[in-house]
Amino acid sequence: MTATDPLDTLLTRAAGVEVPILCGAMYPCSNPELVAAVSEAGGLGIVQPLSLEYVHGLELRAGLRRIRELTKRPIGLNVIVESSLSRVYGQRMSRYLDVALEEGVRFFVTALGNPRWVVERAHTQGGVVYHDVVERRWARKALDAGVDGLICVNDRAGGHAGPKDPETLLRELGDLEVPRILAGGVGDEKAFVEALALGYDGVQMGTRFIATDECTAHADYKQAIVSAAAEDIVLTERVTGVPLAVIRTPYLERMGTRAGPLARWMLRGRRTKHLMRALYTLSSARRLRRASLRGGSSRDLWQAGRSVAGIDRVEAAGDVVRRFAAAAREAAGRA
Ligand SMILES: Cc1cc2nc3c(=O)[nH]c(=O)nc-3n(C[C@H](O)[C@H](O)[C@H](O)COP(=O)(O)O)c2cc1C
Repeated sequence: MTATDPLDTLLTRAAGVEVPILCGAMYPCSNPELVAAVSEAGGLGIVQPLSLEYVHGLELRAGLRRIRELTKRPIGLNVIVESSLSRVYGQRMSRYLDVALEEGVRFFVTALGNPRWVVERAHTQGGVVYHDVVERRWARKALDAGVDGLICVNDRAGGHAGPKDPETLLRELGDLEVPRILAGGVGDEKAFVEALALGYDGVQMGTRFIATDECTAHADYKQAIVSAAAEDIVLTERVTGVPLAVIRTPYLERMGTRAGPLARWMLRGRRTKHLMRALYTLSSARRLRRASLRGGSSRDLWQAGRSVAGIDRVEAAGDVVRRFAAAAREAAGRA
């Protein structure tokens, strides 16, 4: 790498990788082969431990070892630190963190809640923690808790989208002196190059990596991503209680996108909102898993972001990473 290499960013240095691309954690799409393929190509695959255990049938340590058979390069772990989930869930996440540290994982992506306990433990082992944020308020809190970087989730993201566009979010976080990673809306190499040009230190992509050979999601789900336009992505509150980006399907149209009156009332209350979200999470996990593994049916519920607009084929995950990296180098050569 040279000093002017566009791929040499704060993210690649922190993670020890070559290309500033994270394959974001995805319940239920983060299978070991996908995580490994992205890391092997020079990006960083992030493991979703619940997906590994409940969808792909591997307890975390076994799953990490399976990935290690496929690549020796760095990988990361997603730790969802939401405090409203049960104590049993909290203990499980805590155990996941210990196992990952024992198995040599040093990059952590935290989401929801307060990441302080993850930071404290990861830092004692030389690890780094990047936290998902959708606005400044949460970024400040995460930095107070000691995180090393921010994953800036914008309004185009798959999964739980934020309220702001990528430029606004970056401007809002402009004075915070930590690496900032764009999450949402990157489906092709042009969007990747633009994200780096805007000033982001890398990108986290989800949807693009579902439409790959290595992802074990059903072929109909991948094809729905390839066929969809940005306008086909809708936000629904009916799955997890907070806006979730999914592809418009007849099932979704039947279900509607707004939470019912009781749920809405509960989601507004300070205490009841946590209970409601926990209830939603429990009921949605199975529905999402079933829909991702099963072909077109009357219950298609497929998460994807507006990045679908840039995705025109199913291909190898490593080819995505290499193609995006080559485009960034080429753009830097032209500049
Ligand atoms: C199917 C799906 C599942 C996701 N699950 C998780 C998750 O379990 N944990 C998490 O932190 N982010 C999750 N995300 C968010 C992704 O890690 C990533 O930030 C997002 O997909 C970026 O937007 P993009 O899909 O436009 O690339 C999920 C996204 C998708 C599409």
